[in-house]
Amino acid sequence: MIEISTSVLDVDEENSVQAFYNLETAKIDYFHIDVMDGIFVENNTLLKMKDFALKVHTIAMTPMDVHLMVKDPMSVVDYFIDQGADRITFHIEACENKEKVLEIINYLKENGVKVGIAVSPDTNIEEVYEYIPFVHMILVMSVVPGKGGQKFIESTIDKIKTLKKYCEDNNYEIDIEVDGGINDVTAKDVIEAGATILVPGRYVISADNYNDAIKKLRELE
Ligand code: DX5
Ligand code: ZN
Repeated sequence: MIEISTSVLDVDEENSVQAFYNLETAKIDYFHIDVMDGIFVENNTLLKMKDFALKVHTIAMTPMDVHLMVKDPMSVVDYFIDQGADRITFHIEACENKEKVLEIINYLKENGVKVGIAVSPDTNIEEVYEYIPFVHMILVMSVVPGKGGQKFIESTIDKIKTLKKYCEDNNYEIDIEVDGGINDVTAKDVIEAGATILVPGRYVISADNYNDAIKKLRELE
């Protein structure tokens, strides 16, 4: 059963509470919180995403899937742990060595949070294989991290298939989340390739009716 983690990056701050109520009513599986520090990626969404996480934590029951696009994940994790994040994903490209990756994995687990590792388009999927036994999810980026509304990178499909086969061959049961340029066309290929969680942003947030957009994606399975 495919899950949908909707990115709230495009939600306007002034009507964010209403948007979160509407997303919850549309029965999304997660709120996808895109945290950007202006260093790892050009955009800085830290204050906006801290505000959104607080609001979601306050008014919603739907779990939070926090995507850290930050140079120093340990510098921000505590805030999102305190806001009740269900899962927190950090980028393999932000970690200078294996010790750093394992430090963040262990810290998140010790704080009762599910762990994801994100892989940018230019990073080989094999880079994360050694960590799969210790995490709950791999987030395969299908756009260059840093902004919404970008075009889906087609080569991601093969990356998802490769990861899925590696997990099957080694009996690893983890989520494969795909993030960037997800819509009612790209979602079909991504699901067929083996994704278990889709991260649509603009496709949902720009829709007249969130329910219809979410329903359309679920029907592709
Ligand atoms: C990009 C973010 C994605 C993005 C998805 O850096 O990680 O979550 O907001 O938005 P769309 O679906 O518009 O590409
Ligand atoms: Zn994201």
